[in-house]
Amino acid sequence: MAIHPALAGRSCYHKYEVEPGLFTPGHDIQIDPKFCLDELGVPRDLAGTRALDIGAWDGPYSFELERRGAEVTALDIQDPDITVFNAVKEIKKSSVTYARGSVYDATPETLGNYHLILFAGVYYHLKNPVLALQRIRRLLKNGGVLFIEGASGTDHLAEVLSKTSGLGKLRKDRIAEVVDRLPLAYFDAEHRIYAHWSNWWFPTTRCLEALLLDSGFHNVDLKLTASAFINYSGRRLMGRAEADPEKSDPEAQRYEHALATRAFGPTAEDKKTERFSGSRFGRLLSWLPTALHPTARRMLRAVRRSRYSYPSFLSR
Ligand SMILES: C[S@@+](CC[C@H](N)C(=O)[O-])C[C@H]1O[C@@H](n2cnc3c(N)ncnc32)[C@H](O)[C@@H]1O
Repeated sequence: MAIHPALAGRSCYHKYEVEPGLFTPGHDIQIDPKFCLDELGVPRDLAGTRALDIGAWDGPYSFELERRGAEVTALDIQDPDITVFNAVKEIKKSSVTYARGSVYDATPETLGNYHLILFAGVYYHLKNPVLALQRIRRLLKNGGVLFIEGASGTDHLAEVLSKTSGLGKLRKDRIAEVVDRLPLAYFDAEHRIYAHWSNWWFPTTRCLEALLLDSGFHNVDLKLTASAFINYSGRRLMGRAEADPEKSDPEAQRYEHALATRAFGPTAEDKKTERFSGSRFGRLLSWLPTALHPTARRMLRAVRRSRYSYPSFLSR
């Protein structure tokens, strides 16, 4: 497989065809970006759309999105001169814009809004995938589409459960089927799924679906399957979700907990009522609308002050 002469002596992550018969010097994975995006369901004609490729690395999908007609921005934390992104950009005379930075810091104010966002092979590299999805939602136009791909915890969990839980009698694929329907994510602090420190959260299909729904997406369609993105070596999650026009800013809810609107514990008014709780008068108060409580209390005080005997129906 011939390396493109302009990339001789370099090495990178993705091996993909740059010009007919000439490839990038990738050493981790060989892919056909056109085939991968077809498999993910990305339209072949993207004329007139703005697309963002988050986690672009060496650029295979950014340049394929551009070939399909989109105006493309590539976003990654990597230096595009250290990856082969800029070198391929030059070979292809591409107009893709490269923004160096984290998805966490990506805002519509700096990057604009998009009809399509590709988020492939990234969410499980993040300790805060929900924050990333919220940021992505703000970058999408209402009705825009997120194409997402990444690792799943389902098969690892099924493996662990079949070995350790006495569920071993059940077939592993049956266990996986059940696990995948639960909104679970495996935090791989020991890096057992992929033996590298940069992999964190591994969701089930139901979990990723729930995260997307909670982050301002709807019409979520995911599947757990072997795919061209990693050359069919194991099952991963892939699919699409649409930006829900009803939830254009999932970050608008600033806190994830309710804010108290008054001090906890009984109010002065509650305390007045409490003094009578358990008494017949207390029971009478509980039948009356709150607005009448002060009047009822005034009447009780008047009765108590009177020289007549305390009415039996109000005594304890
Ligand atoms: C496994 S590679 C996936 C590359 C490509 N998208 C694919 O599917 O083959 C993960 C990419 O995510 C990028 N990445 C990791 N953390 C990121 C972050 N916080 N913001 C943006 N990109 C990030 C990495 O630099 C890397 O390029």
